[in-house]
Amino acid sequence: MGFYADHVFPHLMDWTLGTRRFQEQRELALAPAHGHVLEIGFGTGLNLPHYPRAVTSLTALDPATLLPKKVARRISRGSLPVELVRLSAETLPFEDGRFDCAVSTWTLCTIPDSVAALREVRRVLKPGGTFVFLEHGRSDDAWVAKWQDFFNPLQRHIACGCNLNRPIDALISQGGLKIERLDRFLLPGVPRIAGEMYRGVARPS
Ligand SMILES: C[S@@+](CC[C@H](N)C(=O)[O-])C[C@H]1O[C@@H](n2cnc3c(N)ncnc32)[C@H](O)[C@@H]1O
Repeated sequence: MGFYADHVFPHLMDWTLGTRRFQEQRELALAPAHGHVLEIGFGTGLNLPHYPRAVTSLTALDPATLLPKKVARRISRGSLPVELVRLSAETLPFEDGRFDCAVSTWTLCTIPDSVAALREVRRVLKPGGTFVFLEHGRSDDAWVAKWQDFFNPLQRHIACGCNLNRPIDALISQGGLKIERLDRFLLPGVPRIAGEMYRGVARPS
């Protein structure tokens, strides 16, 4: 998958996740973000224009270097100080309690060990800190979930490790975070197997 993963998929991902219906969701989900933020799975920086004024700085973490020129342009368009960190979220190089807030959008589907990553998020958040999430995942409808399981191997292949069928709320709880607000909805215009959304806020429990 080298050429596809390195040169084709990043453009497809940036285009798809940058369309208006996704951007509207980013705006809604990121409203509670504040202070020094850690974003896991920063991707191509599509969240940057949607961070509210209450955010003072961003540590943007991703193991992949995706569309670096585009990312640099997006960073330079805003006034938010951004530190790029090329690492996986499962082992974070930060001290306990460093961040006011952590953010994950369309990323817990892809991180190989998402519970390990969430435990790390819990550790590096200040006591009472905020974890903001916007994710697609497993349907509560058994029939839809069955089709998610069926298509998951294909999805993992074409979307570079993305899973359709992860129970996002259960993973967040297993990571030691207490969900304070959870909105479940279907993303309009997206096939239901990929459009079962989880949006909300959790805190270290
Ligand atoms: C579907 S993209 C979402 C990108 C971005 N969060 C957004 O909303 O547009 C998933 C991202 O997770 C990143 N990722 C994959 N494995 C990861 C890991 N172990 N830790 C952190 N991020 C990871 C990928 O490189 C990719 O940028």
